[in-house]
Formats: sequence, structure tokens, C-alpha cells
Amino acid sequence: MSFYVTTPIYYPNGSPHLGHAYSTLVADILARHHRALGDETMFLTGTDENSAKIVREALKSNEDPHVVLERNVQRFKDLYAALDISYDDFIRTTEDRHHRGALALWNKLEAAGDVYRRAYEGLYCVGSESFVTEKDLRPGNLCPDHDEHPIVVREENWFFRLSKYRDWLIEEIESDHIEILPEARKNETLSFLKNNEIEDISFSRSIKEGDLAWGITLESDPTQTMYVWCDALSNYITALGYGSDDAEDARTFSTFWPASVQIMGKDILRFHAVYWPAMLKAAGLPAPKTLLVHGMITSGGRKMSKSIGNVIDPLELANEYGGEAVRFYLAKEMPTFDDPEITLESFKAAYNAFLANGIGNLLNRVMRMAINYGVEYGDLSKRTLRDAAGFKQYAAAFERFDVCAAANVAWDQASAMDKYIQDTEPFKMIKVAPDDAKEIVANLVCRLYDVALLLEPFIPTTSRIIRDCALTKQMPADALFPRKD
Ligand code: MSP
Repeated sequence: MSFYVTTPIYYPNGSPHLGHAYSTLVADILARHHRALGDETMFLTGTDENSAKIVREALKSNEDPHVVLERNVQRFKDLYAALDISYDDFIRTTEDRHHRGALALWNKLEAAGDVYRRAYEGLYCVGSESFVTEKDLRPGNLCPDHDEHPIVVREENWFFRLSKYRDWLIEEIESDHIEILPEARKNETLSFLKNNEIEDISFSRSIKEGDLAWGITLESDPTQTMYVWCDALSNYITALGYGSDDAEDARTFSTFWPASVQIMGKDILRFHAVYWPAMLKAAGLPAPKTLLVHGMITSGGRKMSKSIGNVIDPLELANEYGGEAVRFYLAKEMPTFDDPEITLESFKAAYNAFLANGIGNLLNRVMRMAINYGVEYGDLSKRTLRDAAGFKQYAAAFERFDVCAAANVAWDQASAMDKYIQDTEPFKMIKVAPDDAKEIVANLVCRLYDVALLLEPFIPTTSRIIRDCALTKQMPADALFPRKD
């Protein structure tokens, strides 16, 4: 089986924050799980570089936009290294392969007669890179999602015939051919499609005199650049080699498209659930199988966002607590489909409870007993994920893409071991019934090994350390997760 998972491509107009890290981590966890199941897996992430935000950022600091890009893309990559994100490909929309593929897709839309030119006037928010309507503005004429005033855009653009795909979209989504998870997001999309007049959308921007021509210039109309969302969405196929003549690219494309699951926050659901499948349909390509829509991490009651300025730097957290601690917290404590509020206090409390006093302590206790009592146990190396207690429930959670539930199944297995140690007290029993005590500890080592298999997608390094300790009957070289007070 092949498995293709994508994250949104992020705007590199600043440093990544915890919200960005979250989407990427969810994708990483799914990718790791599918690799463990033996699936041929492709995990794509990247950066959305053709946005006017980048130019705006560069103007602020009086720099070349490419300098801004290099600096910020590196920050994303540094964060992913700190969090052990196992992406297979990182696409940047300024790359040639992307330009080639995005233009190939545009040419298909044109050949299908699905783009046409007309005059347009509307309110545009650069923060969201989308048109907004007057009725959606917040008091003070602010964009619904950003603390900025949309600008009036009056120009001739190429339009995409989105209206034509309305009924088809409703059918595909209702029948779960395009599955939108959770159900509430599916219903939200359906009610948007059913209760609104679906208008064609502006899919290009005119290049004004004196402007820096930023973005992908249309081949058939060099006075226009591609609308950044049209350009950005196509990354999911351009990274697979769409638009290339190379045979290897063609193989990659046919192996992995349509995507198994595309991950995004609910803020960008409409682009992915409405525009994107319609574009694919117009180009004669299948739609992604599942859209996994997670909630927004909030801080101080508002969505964590660079434009709002309430961000937590995940790299700082990783430097202080370790990347695995950040991974575990986000996976286990953030309900996948809700909007969790994050605080540094809850992070610290979770670190101590689940990692320092939890998994770190469990490893020490079990291995110390195994070594001190000279416990014999068989070869564990043949054990697989499917042997682990709780596997069925764990796999079912993964099938629903509920990474939080899956992380909690793994955690429950670890905490059940703690309880088992409390109940059986092998450390006391060793004095009166050593054979029974040793049997209990042998069983504990085997369960510990299995728990490590379950934990692998969430805390891969810790999982490796636990398995190595169990296989070689040794204590870890360094104490895992020292307590932080
Ligand atoms: N560049 C577009 C996406 C194009 S995809 C073809 C974009 N970029 S972004 O940098 O603003 O990142 C958006 C995504 O980051 C969200 O959809 C979500 O996946 C993630 N998050 C951003 N803030 C977040 C939170 N506060 N909480 C959780 N995820 C968040 O939009």
C-alpha cells in the first residue's frame, strides 16, 4: 500500500510557531505509523514563498525578499530537525519544479475552458491572501482573521469557474469520496456550498508598473501572476513531479496521487475542500481521499498567530525540554479536532507527569529490576507493533486519524504497567518468591518493549532508547527526561 500525507506549506515571512509545528507533527506521526505498518510512504511539507507577505516583510527590513526567504526557510528546517520531523520532501514554491508543475496545471484549466478574463473590484486581505466581503469585517473594518485593513483591488484578472463545480463538490463530499474529518467540518463545508451562491474566483493578479513581479507569471498572459492560493495548492502535485516528462517523476506521481490524507488547520479548510478539488477535477485529476482538519491552538483565548503576536516559540521549548517533550505534549494533550489552549504551565506539568515521572521513570524501574535480579527473557527483536497490547484500539484511532487518541492508547499501556508494578510489588516479592518476581519482571520488559513500539510515532528517539535497553539489558546511557521544577 502507498500512503501520501501532506501539510500546508507555510508562509516563511517569520519564524515558525507552535501552531505550524502542530500540523507538521500530526503529519509526521501519521507518516511514521504508516512506515511502521510497512506502507510505501511519502510525507511532504514545504513553504509558500510567492505570497505578497514575503515582499511586504522584505520591504519592512529593507532586504531582498530572497534573503528573507533563505533565513526563514532555514528556521523551519531547524525546527523540524529539533523535532525530528521525518519529511521525505520539502517543496519551496520558488523552485523550478514547482513553477513548471503549477503552469502545467494552469494550462489544463485553460484548455478545459475553466479560466477566463474579466474586470474585478474587491477587498483583499494580504494577511489571509484572499478576498473578504464587507459583511465579514470586524469592527474598525478589520479582516476577520487578521488585525489589518483589507485593501481595495480593482483590476482585470483571470477567473476560475468555481461555480461550475458546486454540485459536483456537494456530491463528492456528501458521499465521502472526498472525506472531510471531523464530521463538523464536513457539514460546515456542505452548508457553505449549499447556502451560498458559489462565485467564480479571481485566480490571477495583474503586475503593476514598478511592482516587483513576485510569483509565477502566466505563460499565456505575462501581464499577470498566478493567484498565490492557486499556485500554493498545486504544490501537492508539483512535488510529485506533475508537469515533468521524466519517467521516474511519472512513477512517483502515479504511486502517490491522490493523496491519502491532507492535513490543515480549519482556517484554510475552504481552500482545500472547495477550490482544490475543483481545480483537480477541471484538470482531469482525482481529488485527495481525506482532508484532516485540526483545530487551532489558542493562546490567551485567540488563535496563535504571527499577525496577532501571541506565539510560543517551539524551538525554545525544544531547546529547554527536548524535541521529544514537545512532540509528546502536542500529540497527547492537544485533542486533534478541537481548539486547545496552551500554556507553559500545562506544558511543564505534562512533562513532569508523563515523561519525567511517567515513561522515563518506568524505563528506569523496569530495567533496574531486570538487571539487578538477573532476569532472563527471550529475544524481543522479533516482536512487532501488531503484538502490542492495545494495538487494535491504537490502529483504529489511527484509521480515524485521531493522533491524540492513538497517543493516549500508548500512554494508557505505559501507565497500566505502573499500576501492575504497584499491585504486584516485584521489588518486595523478590525476597520471598524470587522466581515469581523474575517472571513478573520478564513480562514487564516485554510489555515495555511493546509500549516503545506503540510510542514510536510520537517519541521516536525515546522509543529507540527503550527498545535498545530492553534488547541489550542495559540502563539508558543518560537519564531520560530529568524532572523540571
Ligand atoms: N500558505 C498557506 C497554506 C497554503 S497550503 C497550500 C498558509 N500558511 S500559514 O503559514 O498561515 O499556515 C497555515 C497553517 O498553519 C494552518 O492551516 C494550520 O495548519 C497551521 N497553523 C497556523 N496557526 C495555527 C494554530 N494556532 N494552531 C494550529 N495550527 C495552526 O495558510
